[in-house]
Amino acid sequence: MDIEFAKIIDLPKVLDERGNLSFLEENKHIPFAIKRTYWIYDVPGGEKRGGHSYKKNQEFIIAMSGSFDVVLADRNKTKVFSLNRSYYGLYVPIGLWRHLENFSTNSLAFIVASEDYDAEDYIREYNEFLLTPKI
Ligand code: TYD
Repeated sequence: MDIEFAKIIDLPKVLDERGNLSFLEENKHIPFAIKRTYWIYDVPGGEKRGGHSYKKNQEFIIAMSGSFDVVLADRNKTKVFSLNRSYYGLYVPIGLWRHLENFSTNSLAFIVASEDYDAEDYIREYNEFLLTPKI
């Protein structure tokens, strides 16, 4: 997969003096149907998460609170996306190497996924990723 297929997607924002509201619907605001969500929180300073690629799973990553960086790589290029607002997120297609880093205190990474959890869907070795045929 070419890294250019990863993109920031702005979500709807309903502004109100009582507070703001954002939302997303599958196959409408994000380009896949949702099977699973998970979230990463209480990350100790300096820790990294991720460090793998998926064969089938697509993701949409939102910084619900605080900030962190998502680092994506294809075979030629690396890109860093800094997420720090809950009204947009990063679409991560299959076949990219990815990790999350620079978590701020009390940050909350909320991830919407296209597949159920499946350990077999992971490529965890970077060298194996480089050898996998391009999707
Ligand atoms: P993992 O995806 O390996 O996290 P990271 O790549 O950030 O280190 O997940 C960590 C553990 O949590 C792993 O043992 C599998 C489990 N897990 C689930 O059971 N279901 C899920 O949806 C996810 C994302 C992880």
